[in-house]
Amino acid sequence: MYEQMTVKKEYTEGRTTFLSADVDHYSGDKKQPTTSLPVFYNPRMQLNRDLSVLFLTAYMEKYAVEMVCEPLTGSGVRALRYLNECPGDFYAKMCDANPLAVETAQRNVETLGFGDRAEVIHGDAKLLLMTESRGKRFDFVDIDPFGTPAPYLSAAIQSISPKGGLLAVTATDMPVLCGVYPKVSLRRYGGFSARTPFTHEIAIRLLNGFIYSVAGSNDCSMEPLAVLSTDHYIRTWVRIEANRTEANRQAGELGIIRYCLGCMHSDILPLSPKVQSVDFDHKMEGCTGPIRVAGPLWIGDLFKESYLNDTIKILESGDTEDYHRKALDVLEKMVEESVLTNRPYIDIHALCDLHNLAPPKNQIIIDKLKEQGFAVTRTHFKPTAIRTDATVEKVTKIIAEHNAR
Ligand SMILES: C[S@@+](CC[C@H](N)C(=O)[O-])C[C@H]1O[C@@H](n2cnc3c(N)ncnc32)[C@H](O)[C@@H]1O
Ligand SMILES: [Zn+2]
Repeated sequence: MYEQMTVKKEYTEGRTTFLSADVDHYSGDKKQPTTSLPVFYNPRMQLNRDLSVLFLTAYMEKYAVEMVCEPLTGSGVRALRYLNECPGDFYAKMCDANPLAVETAQRNVETLGFGDRAEVIHGDAKLLLMTESRGKRFDFVDIDPFGTPAPYLSAAIQSISPKGGLLAVTATDMPVLCGVYPKVSLRRYGGFSARTPFTHEIAIRLLNGFIYSVAGSNDCSMEPLAVLSTDHYIRTWVRIEANRTEANRQAGELGIIRYCLGCMHSDILPLSPKVQSVDFDHKMEGCTGPIRVAGPLWIGDLFKESYLNDTIKILESGDTEDYHRKALDVLEKMVEESVLTNRPYIDIHALCDLHNLAPPKNQIIIDKLKEQGFAVTRTHFKPTAIRTDATVEKVTKIIAEHNAR
């Protein structure tokens, strides 16, 4: 009923056309969704949804997916795109607490002809995850909330099939995760965030660490498949499985990251009673700069390389025009960096600011490091950053030499 009073607009994303509240009409000068939007839809999250479609397709090549749940569905765009653009005939349960969103999503389901493959349920996501999974547990759950996903994770993990399922989680509470509110981060995600030049990596690792802990408390393991970082949000894709032995082993993948404000050296340490006595090895002679500590957080892998390669093949075999122009570039950078995530990325611009140096093009530093036998890659986290097994001191020296030429 209320839906008829909403100013609507037809949107197309990927290969899917749907109706939602007109973002421009309700956002005025802000040009992005505001709280006055009667049904939430953010066109700027397209890259997130494009990659989500591709990652689910790649996942389905290895694992059966029969039942999908998107408990915070808004206009329904995400679940609709899965139904319309991913192969298979899985069933989707979509939920929202906003009755207007439910009406809108339901109408979109019907218009797209998915009435027999999807239902839209009105209610609280946590409750519905638990009750709607009673008959058949979910093979894929997508948590895409306003702000923090923390309150939904326990119900989401418990709703996933014990044989294993895909869990995708978005977080948009970036000030908390990026070190503006470290104490809020501790209570929300179980670890301190920190302001560092690689703060988005800390954000991702805090989220993964928290998902691991919630999974572990439910006797489940967590296998990281991919992560996505942008300025406005982070997202992670993991496989959850009822597997105590693996969950026990993964306890070694929790740790802390330490970082010096004076020389920008960072290290990653597993959680252990011995950690406190390990000295921080500053990489600048005489540096006694203050040390920041982030965590406990996830210090294990962030990506599964084979999964990313499968996803790229799917993207390239279809019509790349359907996806965000950055999708392929982001995936290629993820593949590169997937082999070098055992230490945080180095932001070249931050390093140059610290030492009063002019930043050369990243490619120049990458080539020089390679010439000297170091492993080095780009990272999708930041265009100005690299990942390398060279020390921050070595990278600084290469930049200084290049500046002196
Ligand atoms: C960020 S929006 C979802 C956007 C959508 N997934 C997309 O990709 O466009 C979050 C949605 O969660 C709904 N929501 C908020 N709290 C909820 C709760 N406790 N249970 C169910 N839905 C809730 C809001 O009404 C809103 O539609
Ligand atoms: Zn130092």
